Amino acid sequence: DAGEHDSFMHKEMQEQPAAADRVLRGRLDERFGTARLGGLNMDARETRAIRRVKILGCGSAYYVGQMGAALIEELARIPADAEAASEFRYRNPIIEPDTLYVAVSQSGETLDTLLAVQEIRRKGGRVIGLVNVVGSAIARECDGGIYLHAGPEVAVASTKALTNMFIGFSLLALQLGRVRDLSIADGKRLIAGLTRLPDQIQAILDREDELAEVARTLAGAESLFFVGRVRGFPVAREGAQKFKEISYRHAEAYQTSELKHGPLALISEAVPTVALVPSDELTDRNVGALHEIAARRGPLVVITHEDVDLGDVAALRIDVPRNERELDPILLTVPLQLLAYHAALHLGHDIDKPRNLAKSVTVE
Ligand code: BG6
Repeated sequence: DAGEHDSFMHKEMQEQPAAADRVLRGRLDERFGTARLGGLNMDARETRAIRRVKILGCGSAYYVGQMGAALIEELARIPADAEAASEFRYRNPIIEPDTLYVAVSQSGETLDTLLAVQEIRRKGGRVIGLVNVVGSAIARECDGGIYLHAGPEVAVASTKALTNMFIGFSLLALQLGRVRDLSIADGKRLIAGLTRLPDQIQAILDREDELAEVARTLAGAESLFFVGRVRGFPVAREGAQKFKEISYRHAEAYQTSELKHGPLALISEAVPTVALVPSDELTDRNVGALHEIAARRGPLVVITHEDVDLGDVAALRIDVPRNERELDPILLTVPLQLLAYHAALHLGHDIDKPRNLAKSVTVE
């Protein structure tokens, strides 16, 4: 049972620092500034021959796959993208021998993802799995993989498994990068960043009371936007997904840059926006968009870093710790878990078993 916690989701959120430690354990090679992923079953020559990475997953696993694709492109400079596994098979996908396919799944049993893996392997493609449950169907079907070691996850809304998926992608990107052009200095910089993550996640979890208060201001809205750009956009998608899954409020993710091309028409006092505004090369543009929202009296919650100056924008502000830019997305994601959880709690919903949803969907 969930012990001292009111729900498994709460317990599993709190377990994230320990889970993050486990996925890293034994996998960091400090001397060469790289990751040690024996389970991939690929030698350096095969790893270097990869020209493209295609990531497949469903729901939260798909959104973290988008974060993973960004990590791989940035660190390894290999074109990478993520796609919903549920759609992949139906467009007669082109399977190429020099593409690395990556299936992401907590349960390892999601049928849509499993069928995508089988379709790829039937056509001779190489698939690795980022899977939590050892010996699950997807894990068995893959050519190799990275076990996530998050421990059992019970709540439908994925938290610790998702965090470990992100870290798993970071390790994969590091290994792919270090057989290519990522320097040893950059490799070491990322290893140091990964090592800092568990404590930084803990620091966010420690601010639960503050986040609960912010969540209560959002719980009353019928409809919300979650916005972010580039690295922040998959974070917004994951945040909106969590919010709708358990609070049953309509939450839509958008690229901040696209607001002006449509959804700004919907912004009003009744429609809050949760904005991801990390300290990066896009901060000024993101802050500009906040002004557009504020001018239409849209309530704002801004997930940001301490050094970001929001000017005179009226917003509830949540500062998260900074890591290396490439790793920041996971630290921006953790407060969104707490916002969804506390909104749902405030509304009196069943946190672990949201209506109409199952933890693992073994039908098409
Ligand atoms: C969905 C769940 O149906 O399956 C999501 O509601 C989950 O929360 C998704 O992210 C994928 O599950 P898995 O086990 O493949 O990661």
